Amino acid sequence: MDIERLRREFPARRIEYFPAVDSTMRAAVGLEPGFVVLADRQTAGQGRLGRSWHSEPGSGIYCSIVLKPMPALTLALGLATADAIARSTGIVCDLRWPNDVMLGGKKVAGILVQVANGNAIAGIGINVNQTSFPEELASEATSLRLHTDAPLSSTGILLHLLPAIDAFVELDKETILRLFTRASSYAAGRRVTVAQPDGVIEGITAGLDPAGFLMVHKDDGTDTLIVAGGVRAAGS
Ligand code: BTN
Repeated sequence: MDIERLRREFPARRIEYFPAVDSTMRAAVGLEPGFVVLADRQTAGQGRLGRSWHSEPGSGIYCSIVLKPMPALTLALGLATADAIARSTGIVCDLRWPNDVMLGGKKVAGILVQVANGNAIAGIGINVNQTSFPEELASEATSLRLHTDAPLSSTGILLHLLPAIDAFVELDKETILRLFTRASSYAAGRRVTVAQPDGVIEGITAGLDPAGFLMVHKDDGTDTLIVAGGVRAAGS
Protein backbone atom coordinates (compact mmCIF):
# COMPACT_ATOMS: atom_id res chain seq x y z
CA MET A 1 0.00 0.00 0.00
CA ASP A 2 1.38 3.39 -1.01
CA ILE A 3 0.58 5.54 2.02
CA GLU A 4 2.59 8.51 0.79
CA ARG A 5 0.50 8.60 -2.40
CA LEU A 6 -2.72 8.49 -0.36
CA ARG A 7 -1.47 11.33 1.83
CA ARG A 8 -0.51 13.35 -1.26
CA GLU A 9 -3.90 12.75 -2.92
CA PHE A 10 -5.86 13.58 0.26
CA PRO A 11 -3.78 16.29 1.98
CA ALA A 12 -6.64 17.34 4.27
CA ARG A 13 -7.14 13.81 5.62
CA ARG A 14 -5.38 12.49 8.65
CA ILE A 15 -4.21 9.00 7.73
CA GLU A 16 -2.68 6.80 10.42
CA TYR A 17 -0.79 3.81 9.03
CA PHE A 18 0.41 0.70 10.84
CA PRO A 19 2.47 -2.04 9.15
CA ALA A 20 0.89 -4.30 11.80
CA VAL A 21 -1.78 -3.62 14.41
CA ASP A 22 -4.17 -5.76 16.44
CA SER A 23 -7.23 -4.13 14.86
CA THR A 24 -7.74 -0.83 13.07
CA MET A 25 -11.05 -0.62 15.00
CA ARG A 26 -9.19 -0.45 18.30
CA ALA A 27 -6.54 1.90 16.88
CA ALA A 28 -9.28 4.31 15.74
CA VAL A 29 -10.90 4.66 19.19
CA GLY A 30 -10.34 8.15 20.57
CA LEU A 31 -9.51 9.71 17.18
CA GLU A 32 -11.63 12.55 15.81
CA PRO A 33 -14.04 12.31 12.87
CA GLY A 34 -12.10 12.44 9.61
CA PHE A 35 -9.25 10.19 10.75
CA VAL A 36 -8.49 7.13 8.64
CA VAL A 37 -6.60 4.17 10.10
CA LEU A 38 -4.97 1.70 7.69
CA ALA A 39 -2.90 -1.40 8.29
CA ASP A 40 -1.06 -3.90 6.13
CA ARG A 41 -1.71 -6.59 8.69
CA GLN A 42 -4.07 -7.14 11.63
CA THR A 43 -3.25 -9.66 14.33
CA ALA A 44 -6.75 -9.56 15.85
CA GLY A 45 -9.04 -8.35 13.06
CA GLN A 46 -12.63 -8.06 14.26
CA GLY A 47 -15.72 -9.20 12.37
CA ARG A 48 -19.38 -8.83 13.26
CA LEU A 49 -21.02 -10.75 16.09
CA GLY A 50 -17.72 -11.31 17.88
CA ARG A 51 -16.18 -13.15 14.94
CA SER A 52 -12.61 -12.57 13.78
CA TRP A 53 -11.67 -11.11 10.39
CA HIS A 54 -9.06 -13.06 8.44
CA SER A 55 -6.35 -10.45 7.77
CA GLU A 56 -3.65 -11.96 5.60
CA PRO A 57 -0.60 -9.64 5.57
CA GLY A 58 -0.39 -7.37 2.53
CA SER A 59 -3.30 -9.01 0.69
CA GLY A 60 -6.28 -7.03 1.89
CA ILE A 61 -7.49 -3.56 2.76
CA TYR A 62 -7.91 -3.14 6.52
CA CYS A 63 -9.36 0.28 7.13
CA SER A 64 -11.28 2.13 9.86
CA ILE A 65 -12.66 5.61 9.37
CA VAL A 66 -13.99 7.80 12.15
CA LEU A 67 -17.33 9.36 11.20
CA LYS A 68 -20.28 11.11 12.79
CA PRO A 69 -23.07 8.60 13.50
CA MET A 70 -25.91 8.70 10.96
CA PRO A 71 -28.94 6.61 9.95
CA ALA A 72 -28.30 3.73 7.52
CA LEU A 73 -24.53 4.17 7.84
CA THR A 74 -23.79 0.46 7.33
CA LEU A 75 -25.80 0.44 4.10
CA ALA A 76 -24.07 3.63 2.89
CA LEU A 77 -20.66 2.07 3.55
CA GLY A 78 -21.57 -1.04 1.58
CA LEU A 79 -22.64 1.14 -1.33
CA ALA A 80 -19.40 3.15 -1.11
CA THR A 81 -17.29 -0.01 -1.01
CA ALA A 82 -19.02 -1.57 -4.03
CA ASP A 83 -18.78 1.76 -5.88
CA ALA A 84 -15.03 2.06 -5.20
CA ILE A 85 -14.41 -1.54 -6.29
CA ALA A 86 -16.36 -0.98 -9.52
CA ARG A 87 -14.61 2.30 -10.34
CA SER A 88 -11.11 1.01 -9.60
CA THR A 89 -11.32 -2.55 -10.96
CA GLY A 90 -14.44 -2.75 -13.15
CA ILE A 91 -15.73 -5.60 -10.94
CA VAL A 92 -19.41 -5.27 -10.09
CA CYS A 93 -20.35 -6.64 -6.66
CA ASP A 94 -23.66 -7.52 -5.04
CA LEU A 95 -24.70 -6.34 -1.57
CA ARG A 96 -26.12 -8.75 1.00
CA TRP A 97 -28.15 -6.93 3.63
CA PRO A 98 -26.95 -5.35 5.80
CA ASN A 99 -23.20 -5.27 5.43
CA ASP A 100 -21.67 -7.87 3.12
CA VAL A 101 -20.17 -7.11 -0.27
CA MET A 102 -20.54 -10.24 -2.40
CA LEU A 103 -18.88 -11.58 -5.52
CA GLY A 104 -19.88 -14.85 -7.19
CA GLY A 105 -22.04 -15.70 -4.18
CA LYS A 106 -19.16 -15.34 -1.70
CA LYS A 107 -18.12 -12.49 0.57
CA VAL A 108 -15.40 -10.20 -0.79
CA ALA A 109 -15.68 -7.37 1.74
CA GLY A 110 -17.24 -6.80 5.15
CA ILE A 111 -18.28 -3.78 7.12
CA LEU A 112 -18.33 -3.31 10.86
CA VAL A 113 -19.67 -0.18 12.54
CA GLN A 114 -18.95 0.45 16.22
CA VAL A 115 -19.79 3.49 18.32
CA ALA A 116 -17.08 4.90 20.60
CA ASN A 117 -16.94 8.27 22.37
CA GLY A 118 -20.01 9.41 20.41
CA ASN A 119 -18.35 8.72 17.06
CA ALA A 120 -19.02 5.93 14.57
CA ILE A 121 -15.98 3.86 13.69
CA ALA A 122 -16.53 2.41 10.24
CA GLY A 123 -14.41 -0.67 9.66
CA ILE A 124 -14.03 -1.92 6.10
CA GLY A 125 -12.18 -5.08 5.19
CA ILE A 126 -11.73 -5.88 1.49
CA ASN A 127 -10.21 -9.15 0.26
CA VAL A 128 -8.04 -7.88 -2.58
CA ASN A 129 -5.18 -10.20 -3.58
CA GLN A 130 -5.71 -13.39 -1.58
CA THR A 131 -5.34 -16.44 -3.81
CA SER A 132 -6.72 -18.87 -1.24
CA PHE A 133 -8.46 -18.88 2.14
CA PRO A 134 -8.24 -21.15 5.18
CA GLU A 135 -10.39 -24.24 4.75
CA GLU A 136 -13.07 -23.05 7.18
CA LEU A 137 -13.58 -19.83 5.15
CA ALA A 138 -13.13 -21.19 1.63
CA SER A 139 -16.84 -21.83 0.96
CA GLU A 140 -17.86 -18.34 2.15
CA ALA A 141 -14.98 -15.99 1.24
CA THR A 142 -13.50 -14.78 -2.01
CA SER A 143 -11.13 -12.05 -3.15
CA LEU A 144 -11.10 -9.63 -6.07
CA ARG A 145 -7.93 -11.35 -7.33
CA LEU A 146 -9.79 -14.64 -7.67
CA HIS A 147 -12.00 -12.87 -10.24
CA THR A 148 -9.24 -11.18 -12.25
CA ASP A 149 -6.17 -12.17 -14.26
CA ALA A 150 -3.63 -10.03 -12.45
CA PRO A 151 -2.93 -8.66 -8.95
CA LEU A 152 -4.86 -5.52 -8.04
CA SER A 153 -3.72 -2.30 -6.39
CA SER A 154 -5.06 -1.73 -2.88
CA THR A 155 -3.92 1.88 -3.19
CA GLY A 156 -5.99 2.23 -6.37
CA ILE A 157 -9.08 0.97 -4.55
CA LEU A 158 -8.47 3.28 -1.57
CA LEU A 159 -8.10 6.27 -3.90
CA HIS A 160 -11.75 5.65 -4.85
CA LEU A 161 -12.96 4.39 -1.47
CA LEU A 162 -12.24 7.50 0.61
CA PRO A 163 -14.11 9.92 -1.73
CA ALA A 164 -16.91 7.36 -2.18
CA ILE A 165 -17.46 7.22 1.59
CA ASP A 166 -17.49 11.02 1.76
CA ALA A 167 -20.12 11.10 -1.00
CA PHE A 168 -22.42 8.34 0.30
CA VAL A 169 -22.49 9.59 3.90
CA GLU A 170 -23.76 12.94 2.59
CA LEU A 171 -26.91 11.28 1.19
CA ASP A 172 -30.19 11.26 3.08
CA LYS A 173 -31.53 7.99 4.46
CA GLU A 174 -34.26 7.62 1.82
CA THR A 175 -31.74 7.92 -1.00
CA ILE A 176 -29.39 5.41 0.66
CA LEU A 177 -32.26 2.91 1.04
CA ARG A 178 -33.29 3.42 -2.59
CA LEU A 179 -29.74 2.97 -3.92
CA PHE A 180 -29.17 -0.07 -1.71
CA THR A 181 -32.41 -1.68 -2.88
CA ARG A 182 -31.33 -1.13 -6.48
CA ALA A 183 -27.80 -2.47 -5.95
CA SER A 184 -28.66 -5.53 -3.84
CA SER A 185 -30.09 -8.77 -5.24
CA TYR A 186 -30.96 -9.66 -1.64
CA ALA A 187 -33.23 -6.70 -0.91
CA ALA A 188 -36.36 -7.98 -2.65
CA GLY A 189 -37.62 -11.11 -4.36
CA ARG A 190 -34.84 -13.40 -3.12
CA ARG A 191 -35.43 -16.65 -1.25
CA VAL A 192 -33.33 -16.52 1.90
CA THR A 193 -32.79 -18.18 5.23
CA VAL A 194 -32.21 -15.95 8.23
CA ALA A 195 -30.73 -17.02 11.55
CA GLN A 196 -32.92 -15.56 14.30
CA PRO A 197 -32.53 -15.93 18.08
CA ASP A 198 -35.38 -18.49 18.12
CA GLY A 199 -34.32 -20.48 15.04
CA VAL A 200 -33.84 -20.16 11.30
CA ILE A 201 -36.64 -18.72 9.18
CA GLU A 202 -37.04 -19.01 5.41
CA GLY A 203 -38.93 -16.80 2.99
CA ILE A 204 -38.74 -14.26 0.19
CA THR A 205 -37.23 -10.84 0.83
CA ALA A 206 -39.75 -8.02 0.45
CA GLY A 207 -37.74 -4.79 0.55
CA LEU A 208 -36.44 -2.51 3.27
CA ASP A 209 -38.68 -0.75 5.79
CA PRO A 210 -38.24 3.03 6.34
CA ALA A 211 -35.59 2.37 9.01
CA GLY A 212 -33.56 0.16 6.65
CA PHE A 213 -34.52 -3.18 8.18
CA LEU A 214 -35.15 -6.14 5.86
CA MET A 215 -38.68 -7.47 5.41
CA VAL A 216 -39.07 -11.19 4.77
CA HIS A 217 -42.34 -12.76 3.60
CA LYS A 218 -42.43 -16.25 5.10
CA ASP A 219 -43.97 -19.29 3.44
CA ASP A 220 -46.74 -19.35 6.09
CA GLY A 221 -47.92 -15.98 4.75
CA THR A 222 -46.64 -13.85 7.64
CA ASP A 223 -43.99 -11.12 7.43
CA THR A 224 -40.94 -10.76 9.67
CA LEU A 225 -38.75 -7.70 10.02
CA ILE A 226 -35.07 -8.64 10.24
CA VAL A 227 -33.14 -6.18 12.39
CA ALA A 228 -29.74 -7.92 12.46
CA GLY A 229 -27.69 -9.96 9.96
CA GLY A 230 -27.55 -13.68 9.37
CA VAL A 231 -29.16 -13.57 5.90
CA ARG A 232 -28.14 -16.34 3.49
CA ALA A 233 -29.37 -17.23 0.03
CA ALA A 234 -31.59 -20.28 0.55
CA GLY A 235 -29.85 -23.48 -0.47
CA SER A 236 -26.34 -21.98 -0.21
C1 BTN B 1 -17.80 -8.54 8.97
O1 BTN B 1 -18.29 -8.72 7.86
O2 BTN B 1 -17.88 -9.40 9.85
C2 BTN B 1 -17.12 -7.24 9.25
C3 BTN B 1 -15.65 -7.31 8.92
C4 BTN B 1 -14.92 -6.01 9.14
C5 BTN B 1 -13.44 -6.16 8.97
C6 BTN B 1 -12.72 -4.86 9.03
S1 BTN B 1 -11.02 -5.00 8.57
C7 BTN B 1 -10.75 -3.36 9.09
C8 BTN B 1 -11.51 -3.19 10.39
N1 BTN B 1 -10.69 -3.66 11.48
C9 BTN B 1 -11.19 -4.75 12.05
O3 BTN B 1 -10.68 -5.34 13.01
N2 BTN B 1 -12.35 -5.08 11.46
C10 BTN B 1 -12.69 -4.17 10.39
